[in-house]
Amino acid sequence: MSRLPGHVAVIMDGNGRWAHRRGRERIFGHHEGVKAVRKTVDAAAELGVKYLTLYAFSKENWNRPDEEVSALMDLMIESINNETNTLIKKEISLQVIGDLSRLSENVRKRLHQTMKLTSGGTRMRLVVALSYSSRWEISEACRRIAAAVKDGRMNLNDINEETVTASLATSDIPDPELMIRTSGEKRISNFLLWQLAYTELYFTEKLWPDFGKEDFYKAVADFQKRERRHGKTSEQIADNR
Ligand code: IPE
Ligand code: IPE
Ligand code: MG
Repeated sequence: MSRLPGHVAVIMDGNGRWAHRRGRERIFGHHEGVKAVRKTVDAAAELGVKYLTLYAFSKENWNRPDEEVSALMDLMIESINNETNTLIKKEISLQVIGDLSRLSENVRKRLHQTMKLTSGGTRMRLVVALSYSSRWEISEACRRIAAAVKDGRMNLNDINEETVTASLATSDIPDPELMIRTSGEKRISNFLLWQLAYTELYFTEKLWPDFGKEDFYKAVADFQKRERRHGKTSEQIADNR
């Protein structure tokens, strides 16, 4: 418990393949994936993880077939409705990051409601990346910074790693210490490119609907064995212990 990651980010991947292997439609896999979300949220909160970021829908996912996108949006509304009270009870606050302008009015309204209703939760912050793209997020940050310089609210010389970090959607969230991707794919898929600079990456073959608490513990245990050097030498790390 002494080296618990404060922030865990997850790319929940493999719902479609999970369904196909059972001769079912992709959306069946998404429905099953919600159960894995529940288990992961519980596992993280119970361990004492302070921030859990889940990649639920990328900006690129808008390019999927219309019926899959609309089924995913329906599932999103259903899940938010079903889980809001549980989140409140478990003292988990919800934050959503992403380009929400592309979501329907209805989804946006419900998200804002749940964010407001859960805002008092201090046990864990659940960050859902929805209609999210890291390049989009970084481009938005550039635009905000440029506007601040143009308006004279900021000097050119003030642009540095801290001010860029502060201009991102994750400005008040520490960088993830551990990033988990399921389904065997070993790529980042436009997720938290800036924030993952020194994150430990963990890949598992498990498809997302099969991911459970034990799998989460396994990833955390793997993280705990690693030496995080941040550019230093092993000897320096040992000396500071
Ligand atoms: C992850 O599962 C869920 C979303 C991206 C919305 P996929 O739908 O990507 O499933 P695979 O990767 O095709 O199996
Ligand atoms: C990444 O999964 C996005 C989410 C899990 C929401 P994808 O299935 O969209 O990623 P690629 O297309 O395989 O890289
Ligand atoms: Mg996928």
